[in-house]
Amino acid sequence: MAEDTLTITDNRTNQTYAIPIEKGTIRAMDLRQIKTGPKDFGLMTYDPAFMNTASCRSKITFIDGERGILRYRGYPIEVLAEHCSFLEVAFLILFGDLPTETELEKWVNQITHHTMLHETTRKFMEGFRYNAHPMAMLVTTVAALSTVYPEARAIDDPSNRMLQIKRLIGKMPSIAAMSYRHSLGFPYVYPDNDLNYSENFMNMLFKMVEPKYVANPVLASALDVLFILHADHEQNCSANVMRSVGSAQTDPYLTTAAAAAALSGPLHGGANEEVLKMIDEIGSAENVPAYIKGSKEGHSKLMGFGHRVYKNYDPRAKIIKRTAEQVFEVTGRNPKLEIALELERIALEDDYFIKRKLYPNVDFYSGIIYQAMGFKPEMFTVLFAIPRTVGWLAQWQEMLIDSEQKIARPRQVYTGHDVREFMPIEKRTASW
Ligand code: CMC
Repeated sequence: MAEDTLTITDNRTNQTYAIPIEKGTIRAMDLRQIKTGPKDFGLMTYDPAFMNTASCRSKITFIDGERGILRYRGYPIEVLAEHCSFLEVAFLILFGDLPTETELEKWVNQITHHTMLHETTRKFMEGFRYNAHPMAMLVTTVAALSTVYPEARAIDDPSNRMLQIKRLIGKMPSIAAMSYRHSLGFPYVYPDNDLNYSENFMNMLFKMVEPKYVANPVLASALDVLFILHADHEQNCSANVMRSVGSAQTDPYLTTAAAAAALSGPLHGGANEEVLKMIDEIGSAENVPAYIKGSKEGHSKLMGFGHRVYKNYDPRAKIIKRTAEQVFEVTGRNPKLEIALELERIALEDDYFIKRKLYPNVDFYSGIIYQAMGFKPEMFTVLFAIPRTVGWLAQWQEMLIDSEQKIARPRQVYTGHDVREFMPIEKRTASW
C-alpha cells in the first residue's frame, strides 16, 4: 500500500525528507527541518491571504466549493433552512447536535432572557452621532459590552464562557435594532419575551405606538431563514479574526467586535450594501451589458459575485432567491430584482465569469429582500452580523479548547533593508 507521506528532495543539499500527509495536508512545521546548514532557520511556506493554508481542524461547518455544498455539523443547509428555527440551528452549531424539544425550550428561554441591554449600554448608544453608520455603532457597542461584563475575561471557565455566549446571541438583535432606531431618531424599544427571536427583533425595529407588535409571519420566517443561512461559514475573514484575536485570550465581547469589524468590509459582509449601490448605479436592466463590460475591463467588481471557496453557485444564494418570492408576495416585487436577474443572466453566460467560476454569492440577493422588508442598505451588514455571531462564538470556543492552538502569530518574509548606518537629521535627504 502507498505510504501517506510526501517525499521532498532539497536540490540545494541533495537531502531527501519524508513528510507525513494527514487529511490532505502536511504540517508546515515539518518543513522547518529542511535546512541548508545549522545556521539556516529552516524552510517556511509563503501564503499571503491564506490561499492554501488550513489554520485549524474544525468540526463545525463543511463546504465543498466546487460542488456548491454547505453543511452545519453534517446537516445540509437546505434541510436546516426548511425544517429548523434559527435558535435550533444556533444550538446545533454551538453544541454539535440538534436539540431535543426540552433542550430547545430551555435554550430559547435562556437566550430570550438575555435580550435586554443594560441601561448604560442604551445611554452609550444614544451618544452616537445621528448619522453614524449602523454597523459602526454595532461594532463599537459590542466592544463596549466588555465594560458591562468584566467577568467575561475568565475565558478558561466553560460555564462563564457559555454565559457570555448566551448574552451575545441574546443582545445582538437588541443592539442592531437600537442602532437602526437611533439612525432614524426613534426611541429604543425594549424586547418582548413573548415573541420568538426574529419576531422580537422585528418588534424592536418596527414597533411604534401599538401596545403589542405583531410581526407578519411570512416576513418573520423569511428573516429566520436568512439568519440560518448566515450563521456560519467556516474559516472566512471574520471567523479567522475571531480565532486570531481570541487566541490572545481577549474577552469574547472585544473579540466579537473585532470579527464584526472584519465583516463590515465591502469584500466580506459589507458586500450586500454594495450590491444595492451597484444596482442603483446601473439604474435599469438595459444598462446591465455596459456595466458588465466595464467590470471585465477592471472598472468595478460585480459586487455579490465571486467567492474564495465557492467555484459554483453559492447554495445560500439559491435559497435566498426562493425566499425572495415569498417575501415579495407580502411586500410587492422589488423592482431592483429585474436588474439583479438580468445581471446574473448575462454574467453567467459570459466567458470572463465562466472562466473564473464567478457565481452569485449570498450577498447578491439578500439586500433585495432586506430592502423589500423596509431596511435601509446601511442595515444590511448588521443583519448579517446577528446570526454570524453564533458562528464566531462556536469557532472561538472550538479554538479555545483545541490543545493544538496557541496565540496566532504568522511568520513573514522580510524584504526590507539590511542593517543601516544611522544618519544624523542634518545629513538626511527628503524621501516624501
Ligand atoms: N467581479 C469581477 N471580477 C471578479 C470578481 C467580481 N466580483 N471577483 C473576482 N473577480 C476576478 C478577479 O479580478 C480575478 O481576475 P484575474 O484572475 O483576471 O485577476 C479573478 O476573478 C479571481 O479573483 P480573486 O480576487 O483572486 O478572488 P478572491 O478569492 O481573492 O476573492 C472575493 C474573493 C469574494 C473577495 C471576490 O470575488 C470579490 O471581491 N467579490 C465581490 C465582493 C463580494 O461579493 N464579497 C462577498 C463574498 S461572499 C460573503 C462573505 O464572505 O461575506
